[in-house]
Amino acid sequence: MNFPVTRLRRLRKNPVLRNMVSETLVTTNDLIMPLFVCEGTKKNSPIHSMPGISQLSIDMLVEECIELYDLGVNAIILFGVPDHKDDTGMIAAEHDAIIPKAIRAIKKAIPGMYVIADVCNCEYTTHGHCGVILDNDVDNDLTFSSLVAQSITFAQSGVDMIAPSDMMDGRVMKIREALDENGYTMLPIMAYSAKYASAFYGPFRDAADSAPKFGDRNSYQMNPANSNEAMREIELDIYEGADIVMVKPALSYLDIIRRAKDTFNMPIAAYNVSGEYAMVKAAAQNGWIDEPRMIKEILTSIKRAGSDIILTYHAKEFAKLLKS
Ligand code: PBG
Repeated sequence: MNFPVTRLRRLRKNPVLRNMVSETLVTTNDLIMPLFVCEGTKKNSPIHSMPGISQLSIDMLVEECIELYDLGVNAIILFGVPDHKDDTGMIAAEHDAIIPKAIRAIKKAIPGMYVIADVCNCEYTTHGHCGVILDNDVDNDLTFSSLVAQSITFAQSGVDMIAPSDMMDGRVMKIREALDENGYTMLPIMAYSAKYASAFYGPFRDAADSAPKFGDRNSYQMNPANSNEAMREIELDIYEGADIVMVKPALSYLDIIRRAKDTFNMPIAAYNVSGEYAMVKAAAQNGWIDEPRMIKEILTSIKRAGSDIILTYHAKEFAKLLKS
């Protein structure tokens, strides 16, 4: 309308000026690196569908954390790949289960590393579902006991934050109450609040050996078609005591991230999931894309959409990109 007085290209001509008016900047402070931990020693088992990501035994995990920390990635989220599973996920709550051992080892080696533990059952159950099975479906309330037990053991092991990803109704309140009763009133909860039943989790299920052995997760994870329902999920988790709420996956759900940010005065996390990572890696291996640029653009878009925190398998390589 104001042409030729107004020319938006004026601000794009000089790189210094372009940086000055840049609205979104992703730094390593925003990132959480997911890590898969397995039993044994000196183990580094690459995950075929996630090039660059491995299952690590605790000794190797500690080495990886030291490297991440030196790169400025000072927050991780742990997923356990145990040797033994059970029907309820209770096995994950034993004092010497894989995650409690990993938490203690990392906190001992690098006290400043911020260690988050995913709380769920699918990596620990024989059937691969996120809860206790009753009548061929996941029973909501029966699932609380293992989620609570895991949370308490992780807290006792020195974890910095708990992140329930199971999608049972009411679990944030149950976990919050249990943490408080046990003296962990200051331990924050980052709730996977709007977690969709997504095809983008495929590679993760290879990595964590957590694919359901029958059926699917549609009776507890959200329908990708729904946005209003996501706001209800988030609102409930806030009411139940969540300190940070998460939208997952990220890229097909940027509208949900934005809506959550505009609706709630809360820190928002977004999970840039395994399938999103795998697509980038596959295209890069074929030489079809400029990978560093694409990683930067993806993370920037997630932050621009309204996310304060990004869980991403690109965290380490992004930190290296920032340094180079
Ligand atoms: C466990 C869990 C899943 C992811 C994080 N926590 C998988 C699932 O729900 O099947 C997915 C993460 C990813 O794909 O990177 N409930």
